[in-house]
Amino acid sequence: MSVRQNQLNSLISEDGLLLGHFPYAEAPKSDLISVYPGLEVHYDTFEALKKMRAAAAADGISLVFLSGFRSLDLQGQIFYENKSIRNQIAIERAKVSAPPGYSEHSTGYAIDLGDGTMRGTDFEVTFEDTPAFKWLKKYAAKYHFVLSFPKGNSQGVSYEPWHWRFEGTVDALREFEPANNRQRMERNSRSY
Ligand code: DAL
Ligand code: ZN
Repeated sequence: MSVRQNQLNSLISEDGLLLGHFPYAEAPKSDLISVYPGLEVHYDTFEALKKMRAAAAADGISLVFLSGFRSLDLQGQIFYENKSIRNQIAIERAKVSAPPGYSEHSTGYAIDLGDGTMRGTDFEVTFEDTPAFKWLKKYAAKYHFVLSFPKGNSQGVSYEPWHWRFEGTVDALREFEPANNRQRMERNSRSY
């Protein structure tokens, strides 16, 4: 294990979170399917995505797929290299990017979505003002997609209107049970 991996391990809290992110293993290759060159997702995610994109298109909405499955290596590059380029400490970087082994993207169930008519909003909070996001808010649940990092989420991750996760199978639900469980507990504690 590398020194930097050891440093990260020492930050893991009792509930297994690292800098607010839940642990996720890398999906096996056999679970992945290519959407287009350079973008893979879990095959169950793909089926749901195709249906959702077609339904959106029928409503005049252009959904684009920006980022899906990421290997631990790629997530590591994103986390460590961007952190270093931006001269950020890990705790700041973790607000926008998960450490390797802790990204929903590694499961193949996460997808970053954009609006084909407003590409300037890709990966920007302004994506929330696009027709695509407004459509997603209304209809994504029908295709079993959930917004992972809403405003003020308890994980302390920045608001990411573009990042959705698929929860339409028992396997997917099992992956996200710790995250959903935490949300459930928070909701319950707020209702007292
Ligand atoms: N941007 C999200 C937090 C990720 O890196 O998984
Ligand atoms: Zn994402």
